[in-house]
Amino acid sequence: MKILITAGPTREALDPVRYLSNRSSGKMGYALAEAARDAGHDVVLVTGPVSITPPDKVQVVRVESAAEMFEAVRTHLSACDVAIFAAAVADYRPAEVAPQKIKKATDELVLHLVRTPDILGSARGEFGFKGVLVGFAAETTDLIAHAQDKCLRKRCDLIVANDVSQPGIGFDSSDNAVTLCFADGTVEPIAQASKSAIARGIVTVVERLQKHRDSARD
Ligand code: CTP
Repeated sequence: MKILITAGPTREALDPVRYLSNRSSGKMGYALAEAARDAGHDVVLVTGPVSITPPDKVQVVRVESAAEMFEAVRTHLSACDVAIFAAAVADYRPAEVAPQKIKKATDELVLHLVRTPDILGSARGEFGFKGVLVGFAAETTDLIAHAQDKCLRKRCDLIVANDVSQPGIGFDSSDNAVTLCFADGTVEPIAQASKSAIARGIVTVVERLQKHRDSARD
């Protein structure tokens, strides 16, 4: 199969030297890319700026902002059978990028932010993607309910739900514990493990979803 994976944070420029971003390390997305490659799949890794090295033998597309990630996904998605959106895309960006460094002229500075494009939410509609679609959800409350709602709204086959209120897992750490929320309403927990082990589990589930899709077409 050909699998597109998004990973890492995005950076939303404020001026030539500053940006808004988040603590995503890219580890989960990179672990997914490695696990998918090891399982024999072709991988396109669309990655925001991170400090880790991408796995060998995957196609790497580097982007900075949510808008750039949106365009890179648009370019590569139609050739793929599966898309896994593990990136922590900024939901807002500064409305304007100052052409020069902003000087500290006042005691307060109010930033005007506007929404970034919803890449996962554009997959089915705007991009016309018909393959297996997997999103991630980072939640601090009502994990399953929010993830199931996201799964339906974005027309995903699977949402990988992360409880980011738990210490030692998720953002910026090597371990994770997730709950898989499927489009049919079923849920499957994956207990705390390394992101590599979790990634292998997710790739196996994605292969199962792809087989179901193929047999439904026969
Ligand atoms: N995502 C995306 N494009 C965005 C924002 C998010 O593709 N502009 C993807 C992420 O890669 C992830 C999923 O959407 O797969 C996260 O969904 P989102 O609705 O942003 O979830 P949260 O960040 O948990 O936000 P909220 O609680 O506001 O719904």
